[in-house]
Amino acid sequence: MQPRQSSTAGSRRWWQGAVGYEIYIRSFADGNGDGVGDLLGLRSRLAYLADLGVDLIWITPFYPSPMADHGYDVADYRDVDPRYGTLADFERLLAEAHELGLRVLVDLVPNHTSSGHSWFRSARRSRDDPYRDFYIWREPAAEGGPPNNWVSHFGGPAWTYDEATGEFWLHLFLPEQPDLNWANPAVAAAFDDILAFWLDRGVDGFRIDVAHALVKDPQLRDNPLRSAAPSNTSAREIWSAHEHRYDLDQPGVLEIYQRWRELAAPYDALLLGEVYLFDPWKVARYVAGQQGLHAALCVTTTRTGWDASLIRSTLREGVAAGNGYLAWPLSSHDDPRAPTRFGGGERGSHRALAYLTLLAGLPGIPFLYQGDELALENGEVPRERALDPVELRNVAGRGRDGSRTPIPWEPGAGLGFTTGEPWLPFGERRGEDTVAVQDQDPRSYLNRTRALLATRHSSTDLSGEKAVEWLASTGPIVAYRRGNVLVAANCGPDRDLLHLPQGDWEKVFVSQDAAQLRDRRLELAEDTAAVLYARVVPEAHGKVGR
Ligand code: GLC
Repeated sequence: MQPRQSSTAGSRRWWQGAVGYEIYIRSFADGNGDGVGDLLGLRSRLAYLADLGVDLIWITPFYPSPMADHGYDVADYRDVDPRYGTLADFERLLAEAHELGLRVLVDLVPNHTSSGHSWFRSARRSRDDPYRDFYIWREPAAEGGPPNNWVSHFGGPAWTYDEATGEFWLHLFLPEQPDLNWANPAVAAAFDDILAFWLDRGVDGFRIDVAHALVKDPQLRDNPLRSAAPSNTSAREIWSAHEHRYDLDQPGVLEIYQRWRELAAPYDALLLGEVYLFDPWKVARYVAGQQGLHAALCVTTTRTGWDASLIRSTLREGVAAGNGYLAWPLSSHDDPRAPTRFGGGERGSHRALAYLTLLAGLPGIPFLYQGDELALENGEVPRERALDPVELRNVAGRGRDGSRTPIPWEPGAGLGFTTGEPWLPFGERRGEDTVAVQDQDPRSYLNRTRALLATRHSSTDLSGEKAVEWLASTGPIVAYRRGNVLVAANCGPDRDLLHLPQGDWEKVFVSQDAAQLRDRRLELAEDTAAVLYARVVPEAHGKVGR
C-alpha cells in the first residue's frame, strides 16, 4: 500500500482534516498470549488501521506503571512497561506505522505521576527533600482534616494524609496519582526533556491527558458548591456538584502549551489536548489564535444523547467555537460506547453510525475509538470482575470497564484478541461483532465506516477548510453543507424529508439503505444518515429548509 500523502501545502498542517483513532492498548490486540494487549499485537494490526482509513492513532499510556488506573499512573515517562513490550518494540511500531502513512500520538500524562514514580517516592521522604516541591503538599486544616473541599474525580476527597511528614498531598484522581506542582519550574523543565525524548524518537505528537488541570489556584481556595451533594451518590455526581472554580482551567495553563508548542514546532508535531470541559468556548481558548494547543478533544460529543436539537446545538456550537481546531470523538475509553449511549441494540448501532457520519464531515479531526468501526456496544462486565477504580471505589460507581473490553477480531476462543485469558471479559460478543465476519459483508458497519472515511478523504470540501453552513435549523434532521457536499442525519423517531438546496445532488454515502433522493428532496428513515455531492456547482444557494 502506498503511504498516504501528508499535506504540506501552504500553512495547512498534516493533521488538519485527518481522521483519528484511539487505541486503548490493553484491549486492542495481544501479541504474547498473556491476555493483555501490547505493542506487538498493535503492530500486527497496523495494516488494518491504514486500510480502515484513519490517519493518526493515539495510543493510551504504555509506560511502566503500577496500573492503579491502568497506565494513567506513570512511574517512568521514558520507558515501556514490560507488559506492553520494550522501547525497541515501540520504535519498530513507529517505523511500521510511518511506512503505512499512519501518524502516531503518544499519551502524555503531565497532571500527575504514579505514587510509585521515583520523584514521589523521594518527595515523601521528608519535607525538605529536593523533590518535595514537585508535588502539592499542605498542612491539615485547623480541625485536622484536608486543607480544602476539593474532591477527587474518582470519589472521596482530593487529599490524602501522609503520616510520616504530617502533610496532605493533592490528587484530583486516585491517591496513587499525586498531582504535580506546575508552579515549580523544575517540573516544567523535567517535562521539556520528556517531550524531547519522544519527539527525538519520531513520534508525531502527544495526546495530553487532563490538559485543563495542570495549574491550580495558588491559594487553594475552596470550590463553591453548586448543589448539596448527597454522600452516597456517584463520584461523577459529587464532582459535578462542585463548581470547579479553583482546581481546573486556571490562568497560566496556556503558557505551558505555548512553551510546548515551540518545542514541538521543529518536529512538526501535534499537541492534542484532552480539555475535559463541557463548554466548547472554554475548550476553544486552548487552541485560540493557534498559540497554545494545536487541537483539543471536544468531549461533549461523547456525552450527547440521541436528540436532534441537542446534537445540532452541540455540533453547531463546537464548530463555531473551535474554528477547525477541535477533534470530535464518537466514543472513548472513559465513556459508554456510542451505540450503548444511543439506546443499544441494532438501533443504537445504526444511530452511532449516523452520528459518526455527522462528525466525519466536520472541519477538525473526527475521532474513532477502537471498535467504533464495528458499532460495538459496551461489553458486559459482571460486578465481581470489575477492575476500573471508578467502579471499585464507589458505592454507586459507574465504572468504565464496559467500554474497555477487548476487541473481537474473529469468532472462536480468545476472539483473535489473545491466545490466553483476556484481562477483562469480552462481554457477550457475537460472531457478527467481529472484524473477520464484518469484513466479509459489504453492508457491515466496518465496511460502511471504511466507505465513510474514504468519502471524507476523497472530498477536499470535507477534509479541507470549507465553512460549515447549517441547513434545517429545527426538526429531526440535522444537516449541514460544506461546499458541494451535504451531510444529513435523521435523529428523530420517524422517516423525514429534507428539502435540498439547488444543485444536482447524488448520494455518495448512506449509513444504511434507507435514504431516497428524489426531486431535490432527501428522504431519510429514522436513525439514518447520508452524504450527498452536487455534481453541478450551484450558482446561488436556494432557500434551504425542511
Ligand atoms: C483522563 C483519562 C482517564 C484517566 C484520567 C486520569 O481523563 O482519559 O482514563 O483515568 O485522565 O489520568
